[in-house]
Amino acid sequence: MTAYPIEEHTYDVVVVGAGGAGLRAVLGSASAGLRTACLTKVFPTRSHTVAAQGGMSAALGNMAEDEWRWHMFDTVKGSDWLGDQDAIEYLCRHAPTAVYELEHWGVPFSRTEEGKIYQRPFGGMTTEYGEGPPAQRTCAAADRTGHAILHTLYGQCVKHRSEFFIEYFALDLIMDEEGRCRGVVALKMDDGTIHRFRAQMTVLATGGYGRAYFSATSAHTCTGDGGGMVLRAGLPLQDMEFVQFHPSGIYGSGCLITEGARGEGGYLTNSENERFMERYAPHAKDLASRDVVSRAMTIEIREGRGTGRHKDHIQLHLEHIDPEVLHERLPGISESAKIFAGVDITREPIPVLPTVHYNMGGVPTNYHGEVLTKHNGDPDFVVPGLMALGEGACVSVHGANRLGSNSLTDLIVFGRAAGQRCAEILKPGAPQPELPKTSADLALSRLDRFRHADGDTPTAQLRLDMQRVMQSNCAVFRTGEVLAEGKELIHKVWDAAADIKVSDRSLVWNSDLIETLEFDNLIAQAVVTVDSALNRKESRGAHAREDYPERDDANWMKHTLAWADYGARTVAIDYRPVHSYTLTDEVEFIPPRKRVY
Ligand code: FUM
Repeated sequence: MTAYPIEEHTYDVVVVGAGGAGLRAVLGSASAGLRTACLTKVFPTRSHTVAAQGGMSAALGNMAEDEWRWHMFDTVKGSDWLGDQDAIEYLCRHAPTAVYELEHWGVPFSRTEEGKIYQRPFGGMTTEYGEGPPAQRTCAAADRTGHAILHTLYGQCVKHRSEFFIEYFALDLIMDEEGRCRGVVALKMDDGTIHRFRAQMTVLATGGYGRAYFSATSAHTCTGDGGGMVLRAGLPLQDMEFVQFHPSGIYGSGCLITEGARGEGGYLTNSENERFMERYAPHAKDLASRDVVSRAMTIEIREGRGTGRHKDHIQLHLEHIDPEVLHERLPGISESAKIFAGVDITREPIPVLPTVHYNMGGVPTNYHGEVLTKHNGDPDFVVPGLMALGEGACVSVHGANRLGSNSLTDLIVFGRAAGQRCAEILKPGAPQPELPKTSADLALSRLDRFRHADGDTPTAQLRLDMQRVMQSNCAVFRTGEVLAEGKELIHKVWDAAADIKVSDRSLVWNSDLIETLEFDNLIAQAVVTVDSALNRKESRGAHAREDYPERDDANWMKHTLAWADYGARTVAIDYRPVHSYTLTDEVEFIPPRKRVY
């Protein structure tokens, strides 16, 4: 193996990723006096949070009466009772404080006539424990809420003297013999130097792995780099079978049209001009939760009522809404519809299709952000020195299906919690033991192997093969047969990766190499996703098995844990119990019931 000189760095906390969760954790940790570094493969304000449109849920009650307990009820129901109720209580209880902090730091939220933060309806958000009218709970900055939050947080992080390592690609975690995480090894992409970051706490905030699919609203950077590192460290990922399809990706390009569009009064029709959601969700209609709407759209298309020449999509109507309202509240999607569908939303409907949007699964954590594994029979064993946050983590507050606008809340509430936990358990500048001699071996041998990979199959070909399998064999509806075929095909792609070809051997801005490292992260997660989906023999939330159409609480109200064995190219599966208890006695456990909207 080539010898790679290493530059050494020591911090109290190292955060990998500079999206909403990463930056919120950096801010909490740095402002608590901990020396904090943030590594990011893109400039912070280009992180995928920038694309979040519709808003951030929090029971502020600015538009009508609201309650964090109602928000909790909706989230538990939305999760199809796979969410951990202690963590969901934490999320909903702390959401209002998290929003007000953002407001005070300068996030330019849209305003009501009285000057309060404007809140819009979103799918699955109700009042009075599902019995009342839809809630207006989603705090919005027009339809550019993620953009507003990310820019504000980055400014605050810089103000608090956190240190940014921009365009550094994290290669692998440093784990010691006791199983403690001791930091991370990274490649500086512009000059090819290698950097070893030693830290008391390493926080993964690396986002989801939406790009394992062919059509996704996720940025091309969403390659699940943290999930890949965790699997290579011999730790499990949780609930990977639950992949969310957003009902309104623009037909063709997959670009997101916010659910806020339906929140502002938009509706869907089929080829018969029918508002078909009235049949599938008589109460919530177009604002049922995403899994329900995506399934309804898929059924309409399958049964021949899709629109367009090929009858393969659905129409989203906004043309009946006052153009001033569209201009003020939905300026971003007005532009995207024009650019990506050639549609003027004040006059014509937008062609849309369910599109991969979010991974409910990820690195298992508790509500402090601490990574969990199953160890000696303890299902909640904390991996010392390691945290995970955001879409790459599985707290689990979203369970089998996330409600729209609960993602920004998850990022900010748990990013905040992680910063607080670091302040609680770490001492600024505490001495750290020497790193094991072999601490960079995993990262560098992998880097070197891919850098010199001389097989016959280019990375782009393997990536396309993976994306096609995921798109056709692990979609909105699943059957054992389709998943079994998917398992065979996706394992074949994983095996074929042994024959990968990288053409560029340099280390300076080698996008061929970076895309290969990203593919390696994606393929392992694609494999555990399909294996976990084949294994779960029930329908719950986003996992709709046509051969097992019912939810089966007796056998399957449990989290899947999946480990990847890179040598044998196999996946091992085990389970953790769902936390069917609350955090405090200020709210009652919400028992499972039939989930109808
Ligand atoms: O539709 C949207 O604006 C997306 C929001 C979310 O995924 O939370």
